[in-house]
Amino acid sequence: MADERAGLKSLLRGAIVLGLATALFTLVNPFTSDTDKYTPNQAGICQQVAPLSPTNKQVEHFIRDKTESPAYHKEIINKLSKIIQIPSESYDDLGPIGEDPRWDVFYQVEEYIKAQYPTVLKTVQLDHANTHGLILTWEGSLPASEAKPILMLAHQDVVPVLPDTVSDWAHPPYEGYFDGEIIWGRGATDDKGYMISILESLDLLIKSGFKPKRTVILAFGCDEEISGENCGRPISDFLYKKYGDDGIYLIIDEGSVGIQTEFDQSFAMVSVAEKGYLDVGINVTSTGGHASNPPDHNVIGILSEIIHEIEASPFPGKVTHNNPMFGFLECAAVHAPPSSFPNAVRNQLSQVAKGNTKAQQQLAHELDHLRYYFRTSQSVGKINGGIKINAIPELASTMINLRLAVETSIASVQKHYEDLIKPIADKHGMVFEGFHSAYESTEVHKISLFGVDALEPAPVSPIDAESFRILSGTIKNTLQPLDNNQDLIVTTYLMPANTDTKFFWPLTKNIYRFTPINLVLNLNRAHTVDEFIRASEFVREPLFFATLVLNADDVA
Ligand SMILES: *[C@@H]1O[C@H](CO)[C@@H](O)[C@H](O)[C@H]1NC(C)=O
Ligand SMILES: [Zn+2]
Repeated sequence: MADERAGLKSLLRGAIVLGLATALFTLVNPFTSDTDKYTPNQAGICQQVAPLSPTNKQVEHFIRDKTESPAYHKEIINKLSKIIQIPSESYDDLGPIGEDPRWDVFYQVEEYIKAQYPTVLKTVQLDHANTHGLILTWEGSLPASEAKPILMLAHQDVVPVLPDTVSDWAHPPYEGYFDGEIIWGRGATDDKGYMISILESLDLLIKSGFKPKRTVILAFGCDEEISGENCGRPISDFLYKKYGDDGIYLIIDEGSVGIQTEFDQSFAMVSVAEKGYLDVGINVTSTGGHASNPPDHNVIGILSEIIHEIEASPFPGKVTHNNPMFGFLECAAVHAPPSSFPNAVRNQLSQVAKGNTKAQQQLAHELDHLRYYFRTSQSVGKINGGIKINAIPELASTMINLRLAVETSIASVQKHYEDLIKPIADKHGMVFEGFHSAYESTEVHKISLFGVDALEPAPVSPIDAESFRILSGTIKNTLQPLDNNQDLIVTTYLMPANTDTKFFWPLTKNIYRFTPINLVLNLNRAHTVDEFIRASEFVREPLFFATLVLNADDVA
């Protein structure tokens, strides 16, 4: 996945213990009458489906036997190790495909896939979206109008390894070193392990003799870690042209958490939404002049005032039932060991579900260490202004990065900034240009706000959909809890960063971001040195993806 989610996650992991312990002792609960709904093992809340086994037992046994054999493990570990050796880095400043030679490494990825998966390539149709976007279509016997295709996404590109950090790696980042337990290297988790696993699932299914009714599509982007514009979007355009609105049964893509223990309970965390994204730019302009005759407040001072005001007015936190994290809290309330789930949180859930704003805010406060799952974040990332010490600056500007809470929108976040900053413009007698102005004012004394790279929060995928039941049943059937004495509880979760799925919203409501391994520990390294994946987890992935295809085919 793109972005710095790993750091956030490790922060949360450390903090949650402390934070919840504090919450336990400090909260005075005003809503005791409603606590009954969220008692342990309460039926009806966070209902779990039974393990779902494919009807075609012959195919299932073929795949189970194969994926449990040490020889197979050795083979796919080697395949992953070799694809890690192709340094398919995507850089922020890449030029267009066909012009910038740094894209050419993606030809090697394609060649590698063709060489390793001849059976797959003989069976599927391979299409290219903008040269390096790969789309593999395994046509089902039913037309897409009768059985919508299932789509599995992964990305070929990796986050660049900074030259200065190469020596910090325990094993060279592009060696794909396997130490008998762990496969090391850039892309091991993000996202080449995932890509190899879904390719393997297809290979296994084809070799088992299985013939799908429902079309199976694999698609591999080349720039997920940057914009997604070069492959992510073209792939989505290609599929949209072919299948149209709501034309896909379900999409599965990499997740942010995977299988994880929280509140002493093992969860399979399926991200059913992503936070939104917005970069806000602010320009403050005025007349320059000689520093010996300055105004009381020049553009740098006024920009400082603006930034101070922004940081003094953070977006409020609120836990609402529209947030998939509320679903997670519900799951934890009924399935985690009772003593491990704070009553302070449990006691708020009913009121939160009823839309009690005060309870929603209070719960966000209790869960302050998970704060950015429940609020819009803002981070001032860049500031520029002034050229010369003895000249009054004419322009000062800043860029602020925001991650939008699921309940909010680009428009409401923009309004928050306009309401905050317009009074500052008025105070200084400056023209104010909001986000939707034509920017035509020739006035030099002005404050202009503009948005760059805007993305609304992702629609929340419905969990009452058949496809979510199929996914849950597949998880239950093929994956293990981290603690063998527990059931693995499937829960919704929220992705704080963005994946290529941002381009696929029109194609289906059923978008699930889930990696079938204990991702958190691995992800702590995903965008930094010593990225790795544990072999014991990686080798279980193909069974999960193959079973998902089979289960989805059974309801076609
Ligand atoms: C903000 O300032 C930059 C740098 O001078 C300029 O390129 C950009 O057009 C300005 N944008 C607005 C909306 O004023
Ligand atoms: Zn990724």
